[in-house]
Amino acid sequence: MKEKDHIAGAVLHWFDQHGRKDLPWQKQRTPYRVWVSEIMLQQTQVSTVIPFYERFMAQLPTVEDLAAAPEDTVLHLWTGLGYYARARNLHRCAKQVCDAHDGVFPQDLEGLEALPGIGRSTAGAILSLAMDTRAPILDGNVKRVLARYHGVAGWPGQRAVSDALWSHAEHHTPRARVADYTQAMMDLGATCCTRSRPACELCPINSGCTARALGQQSDFPGRKPRKAIPLRKRWLAVATRAPGEVLLQKRPDSGIWGGLWAPPEFDEAEGATEWITDTLSLPPDVCQVDAAFHHTFTHFKLEAHSVRAHLGTNRAPGNRVECAAGSLKWFSLHPPPSVGLPAPIVRLLARLSAETALRSD
Ligand code: ADE
Repeated sequence: MKEKDHIAGAVLHWFDQHGRKDLPWQKQRTPYRVWVSEIMLQQTQVSTVIPFYERFMAQLPTVEDLAAAPEDTVLHLWTGLGYYARARNLHRCAKQVCDAHDGVFPQDLEGLEALPGIGRSTAGAILSLAMDTRAPILDGNVKRVLARYHGVAGWPGQRAVSDALWSHAEHHTPRARVADYTQAMMDLGATCCTRSRPACELCPINSGCTARALGQQSDFPGRKPRKAIPLRKRWLAVATRAPGEVLLQKRPDSGIWGGLWAPPEFDEAEGATEWITDTLSLPPDVCQVDAAFHHTFTHFKLEAHSVRAHLGTNRAPGNRVECAAGSLKWFSLHPPPSVGLPAPIVRLLARLSAETALRSD
């Protein structure tokens, strides 16, 4: 089919009329600015990312600023975006760019892909959007456009499906106006070729689209085989003290919430109670278990209970905690601390803050 051979012209023509041209990362396009935006946009939508991106760039305008920033600052700027491994990799990557490349991003696929957190599609986006170098991308939006257009069946998490999509992406990417084409394909996927109820009548490549011809837009791309996601129950040891402080622990770098601050976590209520009574020298009857709160992660659902204890002003021993373990620290609840905090913990601290503000001790 001849028109399948060249979508770039029609896509660029559509971009001139309908594409997004004033997103914050489209201004002063540098590899640093594009890279940060691409990492933020990996699992998060544009409207959510924009304020985080603006704040991040205001505070850390260059790769040197990011490399030199404390990890807690980087994680704080990421608080609310989720998938914190992205922020830790971002920080590692900035240090590597500064230490091994004099602060200049590599200008080829291999060099970019060798950096932490940069995969083939992100490398392609940096090359095409910031360096005007021809390189294909294949993010979630582009996968959908190409899977529908070419009728590529199957879930893109499978190697053969992904290979087929990459080969179409490679084939269509033009040499001229590659930045506009790349942005156009992402915009087309985000605004026209949406997952549900796509606006096919407005699509510039609808006449060659296989899925549309079959009336099977919702079958492409194929879905990930569903597994039931397990429920994990956890107990958080939440200690507060007058006049409005909470005891938090910095979590190890690996695993969920790595590098973020949260109350110590246990598999059972007794573990949390014992920890509080041992660490703060309190009797078990001061501990109170609150109603659970829930948070859904990609691979499991968390049901977290907090086991709470409050130290009034007449209970000084809480201070001893500072010597007990380096990773434990008392933080003020008003205002909340400027460190990386998981979103459910931000909400928990807000509740604690409101409650401790009402206490008289
Ligand atoms: N998703 C990933 N990269 C993007 C970009 N540059 N603009 C809009 N959405 C995106």
